Amino acid sequence: MSPSSRCFPLPADSPIIAVSQGEHDINRWFRQFAPTRLSFTDEQALSLAQLMPLLLCGEQSAQLVFSQHAQLLPANSQSQRALLLVERDESRHDQALEWVLQQLPASSQQHRSQRLSQRFYARLGRSQTTAEQFINIAALDACVTQVMRAMSVSTLGRNHPFSQLCQLIMRDEAKHVYVSRQYAAENGASFAQMHQRAVTISNSLFELLSSQHRAFEHLGVDLDNLERKLVSKWQ
Ligand SMILES: [Fe+2]
Ligand SMILES: [Fe+2]
Repeated sequence: MSPSSRCFPLPADSPIIAVSQGEHDINRWFRQFAPTRLSFTDEQALSLAQLMPLLLCGEQSAQLVFSQHAQLLPANSQSQRALLLVERDESRHDQALEWVLQQLPASSQQHRSQRLSQRFYARLGRSQTTAEQFINIAALDACVTQVMRAMSVSTLGRNHPFSQLCQLIMRDEAKHVYVSRQYAAENGASFAQMHQRAVTISNSLFELLSSQHRAFEHLGVDLDNLERKLVSKWQ
């Protein structure tokens, strides 16, 4: 997955927003690890290479959706700022994961996993209304939070730079769930709709993840356990 084979194109220029936060944790992570090469066993590298498209396609698709919707909102409105901040987070996740990906071997399995992920996210993007689109994103990000939590305690060990990155992404995704739910509600979504959709999305995301179950297994990530957590979240 070189930049030319992104799952989804980069968004057109988004409005610039000023934020008075300090350095973002992911930028700090980048500064700390960019001069080094990450170390993996061959098996870990192959497995992770196969799983990266699942993560990257989601980041790229979210970036596009947040950017497109932000452009439609009044400049500097609270909602526009909220969406642009999420887009900025997704862009950081995208860049950090791309950087990791460049250090991993390409394989035919990886291309297959990219095609499946691309299809999954493109299908989701076909939702009819803004409310539906953001209900989907909230549900997905809630799942991604769990996936990242599981990936952060893989066989790489908690202190591995990739595990640390998963923890940082997990924290951002939890915030995105809140922003997306809020925006879906502003656009007319009800709690019942959100709940119902969350179950459907968790199931179809799990189907996608299961297509790479061996790679998860090699990294010590228990997909069944992850599925139980995802399902119980909505009960
Ligand atoms: Fe993200
Ligand atoms: Fe997100």
